[in-house]
Amino acid sequence: MIRTKTPEEIEEMRKSALLVGDTLAELSKHIKPGITTKELDSIGEDFIRSHGATPTFKGYFDYPASLCISINEVVVHGIPGKREIKEGDVISIDCGTTLNGWVGDSAYTFAVKGIKDEDKQLLKVTKESLYLGIKTCQVGHRLGDLGYTIQSYCESFGYGVVRELCGHGVGHQMHEDPNVLNYGRQGTGAKFREGMTIAIEPMITLGNKEVVFQSDGWTCTTIDNSTAAHYEHDIAITKDGPTILSSFEQIEKAIGTNNNLELI
Ligand code: MF3
Ligand code: CO
Repeated sequence: MIRTKTPEEIEEMRKSALLVGDTLAELSKHIKPGITTKELDSIGEDFIRSHGATPTFKGYFDYPASLCISINEVVVHGIPGKREIKEGDVISIDCGTTLNGWVGDSAYTFAVKGIKDEDKQLLKVTKESLYLGIKTCQVGHRLGDLGYTIQSYCESFGYGVVRELCGHGVGHQMHEDPNVLNYGRQGTGAKFREGMTIAIEPMITLGNKEVVFQSDGWTCTTIDNSTAAHYEHDIAITKDGPTILSSFEQIEKAIGTNNNLELI
């Protein structure tokens, strides 16, 4: 069942989603060659807790960390650990916060200096596909229109659209109805209604779209070890169109001040 939210509830959700953006911005100051993903995780967790929220991912189906940090061939759900960031890496950080009972869930893919041109284009196109998808979230349009838009744009560059994972409704729970697929057919699926709040998260690969899950039960990597990108925004559907609850603004400001990162 899709639970719609009132305008007041949507503003509460925005606070949580913006805290995710602030957390990712804080993290982007610390990304540099040599830092481990575990160190980044603890910076993120401290930041979230010091702002009166809890890290939504920690303990979710026994997930052991506050962030998912997915490097290069890891598509999503990379568990923070001893892996060190190195020059040229593509690093997706996915973060969830629960603030006053509302979940914010957003992800950004960072480019470490030295990144290959082909990876740069993958990041750019994946981010663009997210915004193109968001534009379709208008009352009366359907979920299939959103999926079709993301899929057709990314496939026009020859990229793979991962099928095993998808976006979702978001609210008091991280995962609510409906599933928000990154592929689909126009004019199909549930209709967007005023007050719907969803997380849209294209997961796109430079090569084959097939993925495998590692034996830890979480880490999802491309089958051909090609690079993957992942961006995620929470949005609400209003009668005037979509409003983006999360934000990349603080993140991109912070990237601009970190010599180890490139702004895509
Ligand atoms: N953004 C991801 C999702 O929507 C993050 C979940 S990671 C988990 O599914 F560990 F919490 F499951
Ligand atoms: Co999500």
